[in-house]
Amino acid sequence: MSTSDAVAVRLAQAGDAPAASAILNHYIAESVSNFRTEPYGPEEWAEQFAANADRFPYLVAEVGGAVAGLAYASAWRPKQAYAWTAESTVYVSPGHQGLGIGSLLYGELLKRLEQQGFRSVMAQVSQPNPGSEALHERFGFELVGSIRDAGFKHGAWIGVGIWQKTLAALADPPAPTAPVA
Ligand SMILES: CC(C)(COP(=O)(O)OP(=O)(O)OC[C@H]1O[C@@H](n2cnc3c(N)ncnc32)[C@H](O)[C@@H]1OP(=O)(O)O)[C@@H](O)C(=O)NCCC(=O)NCCS
Repeated sequence: MSTSDAVAVRLAQAGDAPAASAILNHYIAESVSNFRTEPYGPEEWAEQFAANADRFPYLVAEVGGAVAGLAYASAWRPKQAYAWTAESTVYVSPGHQGLGIGSLLYGELLKRLEQQGFRSVMAQVSQPNPGSEALHERFGFELVGSIRDAGFKHGAWIGVGIWQKTLAALADPPAPTAPVA
């Protein structure tokens, strides 16, 4: 990709499952940025998408009509009082990193989560991950904690940084979050 190629960010569709899972599966196999050790099947990603995409934004970035990155949110914890806290995830395909695609995706994801009425966005970043740490700092996330030896992958114990971005103040009590528009 050259810097002149247009990047289009849009809501994901079920048909994006093969491309989205291929990007995720690359990092599952080749890195510790994702703590899964088993690849996604396209059906599994599609099921996860179908179960969550009404409540949480699922976004893809297209370059030349092909999916080059994805970002989505999910529940941080299932217990009801966490309903205003989301977890964010972002992956850009190898070959498209460092070109601003992650920033485009994250800007849209965070804007949407704030509009939906979430209070906080959390991210778990395995350590070290300079690209992801830079992205989260750029968007105002703060490192609020870490888990030592949180997982074992590729023959090593990996720590995880817990990052938080606080969105707009909410009413007391807060209204339920809105569905994805
Ligand atoms: C992390 C990731 C999503 C960032 O997306 P990206 O499109 O490469 O990032 P951008 O080009 O938008 O750059 C965002 C910022 O990070 C910085 N950055 C990007 N890659 C970097 C790297 N490897 N080292 C240091 N800084 C880096 C950029 O300079 C930019 O900072 P700035 O705004 O202050 O200039 C992407 O690199 C990626 O998918 N990495 C592999 C998977 C992964 O780790 N995902 C995150 C899991 S928590």
